[in-house]
Amino acid sequence: MNWLNNKISKLSKLDVYEKPSSKGLLKMNSNENFVIDTQYQSNIITKASKNCDVRAYPENHEDFIKCLSKYHKISINKIGIGSGSDQIIDLLLTNFASKRIKILISNPTFSFFEARCKLYSLRTIKVPFSDSMILNFNQFMSKFDDADMLYLDSPNNPTGFQFSKLDLREIIDCFDGPVIIDEAYVDFAGYNVVDLTKKYDNLIVVKTFSKAFGFAGLRLGYFIADQNIVNVFMKAIQYPYPINSIALEAGKLLLQNIKKLSGIISLIKNERNKMILNLRKLNAFEVFNSQANFVLFDAKDDYLRIYTALAEQGILIKKLGRIGTHKGCLRVTIGTKDMNSKFILAIRDLLR
Ligand SMILES: Cc1ncc(COP(=O)(O)O)c(C=O)c1O
Repeated sequence: MNWLNNKISKLSKLDVYEKPSSKGLLKMNSNENFVIDTQYQSNIITKASKNCDVRAYPENHEDFIKCLSKYHKISINKIGIGSGSDQIIDLLLTNFASKRIKILISNPTFSFFEARCKLYSLRTIKVPFSDSMILNFNQFMSKFDDADMLYLDSPNNPTGFQFSKLDLREIIDCFDGPVIIDEAYVDFAGYNVVDLTKKYDNLIVVKTFSKAFGFAGLRLGYFIADQNIVNVFMKAIQYPYPINSIALEAGKLLLQNIKKLSGIISLIKNERNKMILNLRKLNAFEVFNSQANFVLFDAKDDYLRIYTALAEQGILIKKLGRIGTHKGCLRVTIGTKDMNSKFILAIRDLLR
């Protein structure tokens, strides 16, 4: 059993993806969407569960894919599904990557992606963000020859940065290998690259119902890619029943209620822009622009005190610490108007 003990000891030393616990706190740490009201949520779930017989294995995944196909105006053969985008990313890594290849990423990037690369001993090439939390296009492109696979979250978590559409198109066009574009936050930004999957067979666009749609607990994710990738993923790689029947049914209902969603997204974008202005007005932090439903700011030497004092008042945000030259980065998720003003008032008081 020595081999197992060695393996366990090695695994236990890895930096793992930290699951935040926040029972009873104002949750502004995981980029979920609490603007979605609980009544709407329970209507969807009640209706979805009425349409399901959970004694049977889920047989409705094709209907869900049909709805996604209509929503994105993309052929059903180009859509694969998974239990959240986490699971899709994980399966893409375990089946398409290997220790021989190098994956180009930004630094920072979605922490789960990096944690998974570490778990599977996959090598990464990291391009750092600039001091103003921007990725330099030329610097990013200059690493292409050294890399075999590319992963970009667009917009990026935790900075909120997104390349211009033109730049991202050129990145996809020039990279010789699979390009995974993670669009978890794209509904809060100005553009997506779903259409480019019609032209580029190396492009895999990963999407989720956890952020703009506001149903993180359902664990509903999907991706759009070349039909050969989708075919092998769905037939050989993905579990036979990755998503439960109620989630699949709820996903269909959510896609039929897109009008409600666009109002919520507009509200979150307005609140995000207000949050950036309000944080800047405090004259204490460096606050970065964001195309997502969160805002990153550098609270410098004061970040631990601010993070802890907010938590003591029941407001949970994400503590990142050093990013490049920025010593004390914190990330706050945009919540309801009420949550956002509670956060701003609390942080204003802490600076008095
Ligand atoms: C960039 C990015 N991709 C994917 C995810 C995970 O999404 P899901 O809930 O679909 O697994 C997150 C969650 O925070 C994220 O930040």
